[in-house]
Amino acid sequence: RIHPVLLSGGSGVRLWPMSREQHPKQLLPLCSEQSMLQDTARRVAGADRFAKPLVICNQEHRFVIAEQLRQIGIADPRIVLEPFGRNTAAAAALAALLVAEEDPEGLLLLLPADHVIRDEPAFLAAVDSAARVAAAGYLTTFGIVPTAPETGYGYIRCGKAIPGHDGAHTVAAFVEKPARAAAESYLAGGDHFWNSGMFVLPAGAYLAELERHEPAVLAACRAALAASKADIDFIRLDSDAFAASPSISIDYAVMEKTERAAVVPCSIGWTDVGAWSALWEIGTKDEAGNVCQGDAIAWESQGCYARSEDGALVALLGMTDTVVVATEDAILVAAKDKAQDIKPLVERLKKEG
Ligand code: GDD
Ligand code: MG
Repeated sequence: RIHPVLLSGGSGVRLWPMSREQHPKQLLPLCSEQSMLQDTARRVAGADRFAKPLVICNQEHRFVIAEQLRQIGIADPRIVLEPFGRNTAAAAALAALLVAEEDPEGLLLLLPADHVIRDEPAFLAAVDSAARVAAAGYLTTFGIVPTAPETGYGYIRCGKAIPGHDGAHTVAAFVEKPARAAAESYLAGGDHFWNSGMFVLPAGAYLAELERHEPAVLAACRAALAASKADIDFIRLDSDAFAASPSISIDYAVMEKTERAAVVPCSIGWTDVGAWSALWEIGTKDEAGNVCQGDAIAWESQGCYARSEDGALVALLGMTDTVVVATEDAILVAAKDKAQDIKPLVERLKKEG
């Protein structure tokens, strides 16, 4: 069986001022009527091949998440509460330990709760292919054809074709977040994919690889679960035990090192909604390439993203490639090509209170 695991640990700083610590981007209706977490859960709900979803999130978000899942008809999800983030190697380990206990042959489908996938039938077909590859023992990634030398993604170099699995390949090399020059050469070479950040992993194989490459993460997660407390639908991790886990992503901890990685190439309309420029890219544009959402208009402007929440009217005149996002208590005005670099600004605002 495929066990969907929703990873909801990030804070989405680059989508300030809408994304805040208490309401991070994945819990907001940023790209559709529903939150990205709801869209992610709905994509894998209902079909027989999927078990009940497991959510791994920060304890502060437990009620919002339980309520959002209830709204889409998922009444009794299992939700693991982290007292603080220890990154994705640990989050995946928690899921793998829980799944392996009840379904030793079980497959984890790790899903970041903050991605947009526009072609759902293609996504489900890719999950089915990846699940067949994973059932043969591989830690399976989804390869996205790269369109720019992004340095915020992992890059996958294809190895040999895996016989009997159409299009699937072993992974010759996995490079997480390469330097710019390397990313440019991967793009030019044409034999690399982006790692989508979703994975299909045999629970047992992931635990074995983690034991081999990053045993301290596994030991801490085991201890944190052993001393955890059940609280309604929630599993509360033991905070002292969990604190002992190194904070490292699954990409650095396991995917760069394992010899058991595979890639399934896919074309599913995938976007990592990292910054406002990504919302502009996937948004519906007027003739001049502006995306206006909520009470916002752009006049004699080109390539802008304008968005208003909570009633204020936003009007742009004669602007080019500009992002304007207005919320109840803050307004962002930024050059669109600076949208990726908002983090230091938000950190400074936080410091100055
Ligand atoms: N529960 C939990 N706990 N979830 C977490 C934690 C944590 O401590 N840390 C991160 N997550 C969640 C995030 O909310 C996100 O949904 C997902 O795990 C991936 O983490 P990111 O921090 O967004 O990773 P990234 O974007 O830098 O890189 C990953 O995704 C890229 C594609 O978007 C890597 O897998 C890259 O290789 C990949 O290209
Ligand atoms: Mg991400």
